[in-house]
Amino acid sequence: MKGKIKIGVIGFGNRGTSLLKDVMLPMDDVEIRAVCDSYEDRMEEARKLSEEAGNPNVFASTDYREVLKIEEIDAIVITCAWESHIDIACEAMLAGKYVGIEVGGAYDIEQCWRLVRTSEKTGMPCMMLENCCYGKTELMILNMVKKGLFGEIVHCAGGYHHDLRDEIATGIEKRHYRLRNYLNRNCDNYNTHELGPIAKLLNINRGNRMLSLTSVSSKSAGMAQYVNDNMDRLSLPYYYKEGDPKHLNSSLKNAVFHQGDIVTTTVKCAGGQTIVMTLDTTLPRAYCRGFTVCGTKGRYEEQTDSIFIDGQHNKYDENWKEQWGNADTYHTQYDHPIWQEAKKNEIKGGHGGMDWMVFRAFFESVKAQTNTPIDVYDTASWMCISVLSEQSVLLNGAPVPIPDFTCGRWMNREPYIRGKYCLEEIIEE
Ligand SMILES: NC(=O)c1ccc[n+]([C@@H]2O[C@H](COP(=O)([O-])OP(=O)(O)OC[C@H]3O[C@@H](n4cnc5c(N)ncnc54)[C@H](O)[C@@H]3O)[C@@H](O)[C@H]2O)c1
Repeated sequence: MKGKIKIGVIGFGNRGTSLLKDVMLPMDDVEIRAVCDSYEDRMEEARKLSEEAGNPNVFASTDYREVLKIEEIDAIVITCAWESHIDIACEAMLAGKYVGIEVGGAYDIEQCWRLVRTSEKTGMPCMMLENCCYGKTELMILNMVKKGLFGEIVHCAGGYHHDLRDEIATGIEKRHYRLRNYLNRNCDNYNTHELGPIAKLLNINRGNRMLSLTSVSSKSAGMAQYVNDNMDRLSLPYYYKEGDPKHLNSSLKNAVFHQGDIVTTTVKCAGGQTIVMTLDTTLPRAYCRGFTVCGTKGRYEEQTDSIFIDGQHNKYDENWKEQWGNADTYHTQYDHPIWQEAKKNEIKGGHGGMDWMVFRAFFESVKAQTNTPIDVYDTASWMCISVLSEQSVLLNGAPVPIPDFTCGRWMNREPYIRGKYCLEEIIEE
């Protein structure tokens, strides 16, 4: 077991910077050895933050390859824009580093295969840092499913329901990758917040697998409306501190956004279950992940934060509103052990503590030199959904097969690592 690990972090937009400040720097057993962003100002800010927090030896570069050359670095954390995730991950594994990769979809199936084959060839683990797998509610429901409270699970659903119109519309001055993706692609580009927890709950890649999907997109109207309605506001100097005001006006005023407002994807699994995923990011709404789990003895629905157990709740059939929010009452008994422990202390890091947990899960694996609880097969199979959704949307919702990145081993894989952060089983000690 390594005492303190050295890491390199690549990508310091909002996410990378906040993870650095709130999650990685406060961890005693992690040394920030190198930081990188293609923008020099962001790289410098990351260097400054790391040095101020007591990391004396921080190497900084705008070229990630320079970071990968540092032999003593144990792991690379990739928090950059989606398009570079897989290239950097593969090069990092070839350089002998563990890889923790922020969430996001792939652009091509071949990339996903490259990710898997590079990990197999080098023996280096690659973990998608899907924080929602460690969400308090998601883990409580996993615990309840494993204890059999919902019976046999036959259907799950979830979505990324998040009004991102402002982030997308100000993408030029914020130098944010989402704008170019929303202008040029149409797919479920951000499915892993819902798919991660669902895939673990359905044993995907370990006894089960995703077979095929269909994906249908609504028209794209939300962004055009938003840009039109907010032209004056978008033209305020606040938004143009770093750029040319005319640039946004001329490029976005009559821009055609290819990304449909609602994309609905249905997956069929080998075990017979269905999964419905929804991308919903360009219409007015409140944040929600719509996590839904339906079994033969009960169900959970995030929209009403309610749990229905057969034989207990049937009398509310017509008055279910009375039970909205009842999931709260299950936390004391069914919270996952890592949340039972976390509740006793101050919750650390962003997103209600799940950022901290997913990074602990990754770093503990690096320290112990074991595989990660979300492995390269999970990462590739979750990332490939964006590509396949793009294809199915182009084909008007025709079914598209989902590759088996385990090449048949999903039926009989080697045992998983049984640890505190394991997502295959609930480790009680
Ligand atoms: N898990 C979560 O809850 C969560 C939340 C927000 C964002 N994210 C993820 O974090 C990632 C970053 O999101 P963001 O909002 O900070 O994006 P951003 O566009 O604000 O920042 C990305 C940064 O990456 C840098 N970058 C891009 N390609 C690079 C390369 N090849 N080498 C070095 N630097 C490079 C860019 O210069 C930019 O500074 C994305 O994958 C996103 O999906 C996850």
